[in-house]
Amino acid sequence: MFRSHTNGELRISDKGKQVTLAGWVQTVRKFGAITFVDLRDRYGITQLLFGEELNRELEENPLGREFVLQATGTVNERSNKNPNLPTGEIEILVSSFKILNRSAVPPFTIQDDTDGGDDLRMKYRFLDLRRNLVKKNLELRYAVNRAARNYLHGQGFMDIETPFLIKSTPEGARDFVVPSRMNPGQFYALPQSPQTFKQLLMVSGYDRYYQIVKCFRDEDLRADRQPEFTQIDCEMAFVEQDDILNMFEGMVKHIFQEVKGIAYTEKVQRMTWEDAMWNYGNDKPDIRFDMSLLNLKKPGSVYVEKQDRSELLNDTGFKVFDEAETVLAIAAPGCSEYSRKQTDELTEWVKRPQIGMKGLAFIKCNTDGTYKSSMDKFFTEEKLKAIADAAGAKAGDLVLILAGAEERTRKAISDLRMEMAERLGLRKKDEFRLLWVLDFPLFEYDEEGNRWVARHHPFTSPKPAQIDTMISNDPVIHNAEEYLKHPYANIKANAYDMVLNGNEIGGGSIRIYQRELQEKMFAALGMDKEEQLHKFGFLLGAFEYGAPPHGGIAFGFDRLCSILGGSESIRDFIAFPKNNAGRDVMLDAPATIDQKQFDELQIKLNLK
Ligand code: AMO
Repeated sequence: MFRSHTNGELRISDKGKQVTLAGWVQTVRKFGAITFVDLRDRYGITQLLFGEELNRELEENPLGREFVLQATGTVNERSNKNPNLPTGEIEILVSSFKILNRSAVPPFTIQDDTDGGDDLRMKYRFLDLRRNLVKKNLELRYAVNRAARNYLHGQGFMDIETPFLIKSTPEGARDFVVPSRMNPGQFYALPQSPQTFKQLLMVSGYDRYYQIVKCFRDEDLRADRQPEFTQIDCEMAFVEQDDILNMFEGMVKHIFQEVKGIAYTEKVQRMTWEDAMWNYGNDKPDIRFDMSLLNLKKPGSVYVEKQDRSELLNDTGFKVFDEAETVLAIAAPGCSEYSRKQTDELTEWVKRPQIGMKGLAFIKCNTDGTYKSSMDKFFTEEKLKAIADAAGAKAGDLVLILAGAEERTRKAISDLRMEMAERLGLRKKDEFRLLWVLDFPLFEYDEEGNRWVARHHPFTSPKPAQIDTMISNDPVIHNAEEYLKHPYANIKANAYDMVLNGNEIGGGSIRIYQRELQEKMFAALGMDKEEQLHKFGFLLGAFEYGAPPHGGIAFGFDRLCSILGGSESIRDFIAFPKNNAGRDVMLDAPATIDQKQFDELQIKLNLK
């Protein structure tokens, strides 16, 4: 028997027991003739006490950090108890021990506050994984996995695996490709998601499918993006949008309950994409705080149905606003006493290339009821008050105003809103707010190619009332400047995203299931008949054999875990992640392959 107990298990009630423990040496502390050793394993830390006799043995055979040790002895009550450790009331008076394996000096200390930098820890990820913090993250990941499976199993979903060596599925990124030795010159693509397979499973009659599955996308990496990541991928047949929203908000609430002990009882708020953009400048707004936008001026061609407050800017002669396409404002609570230095610093912040604004206007709503502004020359105090009121500002608040081109300004005010919330401590890590964003545009305009691209993916159905608009209109954009006037610009998708604290944690749609509409969609995206058949003949064919109405969603499993764990980076929740250059620095991958492998594949490199 290697061990009778783990290192997290023994308590004062075990006093007097003979036990054998095994684990890694965390620390060795010598006190004259005795030595204390902290022994660590996955379950915790137990203190070992080596008395005088064994101490002599230790002197001949010294223990080092991370040695693998087996020790037998008696459970003793400690004289110096450690209330921070579950095993802190006891120690093991060691009677015999064995060094099971030695360890080189680890390149960083294996503790919560380690001295190892990011790169070093990634290179020695197997050591980093011994750290308590990282272990806690993986435990949380497993808890989320279990909770999701239990919920879906309880709802009659069936886990069905789908292949990794497939043909390209367009999800908006580049494919990773794998050459086929048996079919020289031909390549598999790794799935960007199991999208087409889960749809085929619906045609096959498996009306509730799920899979916790790896997806592969060759795209630019960020803190919340990895080239291979995991989805909780789901699909249902015979459903409408509402069925899906209810089913999956149920799943996320179940995960909250099981993993965090949070009873999220209220219904998840639903917001159209247009409202999200209009009120927050963002299709994944963080609604833990308000600070919604005041649309002082909008371009005529966008948000046609929405009413701006341009009357508030009339007759001021303020060129910056008069000449701008869009003018947007937010009210930052309690910031009216910002100093000149602080407003200057904020102005520099919005001028950074990532934000790209030319300047920042502001109105201070002083607590004595007066208004002070950076545009005093052009605005009467009455006007300033009217704008501040419209922005929802109260005495003590600071109204921040940006003006410029529609797209950039809307994004900039959204970034500024998030930045102010961060500075004001409104983005609390232990507060969770879910949101459904609905009715995304079906198409996006691609300026470079002067063509339409699918906003979600090409299998997403338009809103039922707009199917006719899609079928009966020619998708070609004849006038690039006026693309917003094309009937396709206004078609909304039967698509939905789930947003948690300002992060997109899931997205899905009701699918197209008729061949004619699917062909029209492919054609709208610029695919001729031949290309359609080459790429998606299998799906178009399947739609002719009784495809049921269906829809689904996929959650970013790593993202969900990192938000629940209070971290910005999904890497912390992946056992063996890649760095921002897409490299596994531990394996040193990607790497070159042998000439023999190239020869077998009949591939010759042509590096530029
Ligand atoms: P989508 O592309 O929106 O939908 O992906 C679903 C969710 O996966 C997460 N995600 C990522 N997480 C980490 N790294 C990445 N590179 C990455 N890319 C996406 C996001 C996202 O919300 N087949 C459709 C789903 C469907 O229609 O059912 C799909 O893959 O949290």
